[in-house]
Amino acid sequence: MQYDVTVIGSGPGGYVAAIRCAQLGLKTALVEKYTSLGGTCLNVGCIPSKALLDSSEHFFNASHTFQEHGIELKDLQVNLGQMIGRKREVVKQTVAGIDYLMKKNKIDVKTGMGSFVDKNTIKVTGSEGKEETFQTKNTIIATGSKPMALPFIPQDKERIITSTEALELKEVPKHLIVIGGGVIGMELGSVYGRLGAKVTVVEFLDRIIPGMDAALGKELQRVLKKQLGFDLKLSTKVTGVERKGDEVVVRAENKKGEQLEITGDYCLVSVGRSPYTQGLGLEKAGVKVDERGRVAVDDHLRTNVAGIYAIGDVVKGAMLAHKAEEEGIFVAETIAGQKPHINYNLIPGVVYTWPEVAAVGYTEEQLKEMGREFKSGSFPFKASGRARASMDTDGFVKVLADKQTDEILGVHMIGPRTADMIAEAVVAMEFRASAEDVSRMSHAHPTFTEALKEACLAATENRALHI
Ligand code: FAD
Ligand code: NAI
Repeated sequence: MQYDVTVIGSGPGGYVAAIRCAQLGLKTALVEKYTSLGGTCLNVGCIPSKALLDSSEHFFNASHTFQEHGIELKDLQVNLGQMIGRKREVVKQTVAGIDYLMKKNKIDVKTGMGSFVDKNTIKVTGSEGKEETFQTKNTIIATGSKPMALPFIPQDKERIITSTEALELKEVPKHLIVIGGGVIGMELGSVYGRLGAKVTVVEFLDRIIPGMDAALGKELQRVLKKQLGFDLKLSTKVTGVERKGDEVVVRAENKKGEQLEITGDYCLVSVGRSPYTQGLGLEKAGVKVDERGRVAVDDHLRTNVAGIYAIGDVVKGAMLAHKAEEEGIFVAETIAGQKPHINYNLIPGVVYTWPEVAAVGYTEEQLKEMGREFKSGSFPFKASGRARASMDTDGFVKVLADKQTDEILGVHMIGPRTADMIAEAVVAMEFRASAEDVSRMSHAHPTFTEALKEACLAATENRALHI
């Protein structure tokens, strides 16, 4: 065999798996169809979206909150070309970091489309049709996902766009219609809302960010309406989208059966992502997919074919970069004969709006459905001195704990810097801390993190000090 492990796909799942394999002394190849490593996350996902979220937040603050801080600015303008250019530079630097890591770990990077010839033979087809074939003992499929397409929404990638095009627009939309009130819709809707676009969101379910605790969606709805004037059309299903010159017309029907027609200049389709296995030749290796087209894996991320594993967005579970990374490490260590473990219940989820939304563990709805007895404690940021100082008083922290044992079962936050704050909840829950444990730990004052301590105090015996 030429390689102990071949990883197909260089996203956060694939490149991390390759690094861990190399660290464990396995001879490793990484196959990526694009010349730019890093997958969706680095090129058209996590990193560029956060770059634009940060830039747009600066603009929003400069035009809306600076005055109250006593900072007077005149003639503020958005230079979208510069903003997108900075984002590209951030991506370029981050991707260069992955090139460096591959060299440092002596991983053979092969550029081209990877496919199975048989279960131990991989073919890489380069852009000019150049082919290379080699033998591998193990393969890790990490080919990720792509934006989901709906048959009644013809995406022209100019006006009817996915997140990929939304990261490269040449002008700020006057009226952006977002189809799907999930994570992408809220994040990229916020970017353009902050830069001055009117944003209308059409969501099929009765709330936005539906996978998260209902209280978070409710608060985010309130804040986005107040802060950016989001027009949220909930319980409304899109029935058709049509481009008319520089306009886009979205037709939809709400739960009362009323027909709506919304006209904008751009329409972002963010209704989820689909696993990407096209051109991989899974059938040649005999690898099975499940009913949703994902590579079918068992609890050890093994496919039905010995020596072939799959990780990240192309398999079941949350479509998150850090979930893909954990799985990459898990499989590398499994191949090396170790016995790793992932606690899927403790993979946090974050929405990078402002206020940020972050959560880990069970939601209140899940606990009720499970019939598990729990108690709940909340603390609003308006009662936090730190939040008042920075004028970030929207949101709260909610802690759910077992009624008998007081073990923390879920933490749900919306507020300033909760994307970073959620890490404390993950650590506490990994160590199976009780709400009282956290409530008795000193949290620096004044910090946003005191809100978690206070919510734990509230959950313990209704002992919050500042509400
Ligand atoms: P991917 O990152 O999709 O990488 C797969 C790679 O495989 C790609 O480079 C692809 O070109 C390559 N490939 C596919 N087929 C082949 C083949 N046959 N041969 C060779 N190469 C192939 N997640 C977060 O956790 N936090 C965030 O803030 C966040 N923000 C996001 C923002 C946006 C706009 C989007 C779209 C996604 C975001 N995500 C975020 C999700 C995150 O990007 C994905 O969960 C993550 O990238 C999945 O990693 P992966 O390694 O499974 O696949
Ligand atoms: P999503 O699954 O988060 O949201 C899709 C939304 O579209 C849902 O609310 C769904 O009810 C709605 N929907 C589906 N069909 C519809 C229709 N016909 N009409 C109206 N609404 C419809 O998917 P999204 O936002 O596309 O993101 C894809 C993935 O990318 C997510 O799974 C997410 O995990 C990941 N991601 C993660 C980020 C983060 O961690 N911060 C940021 C961006 C994406």
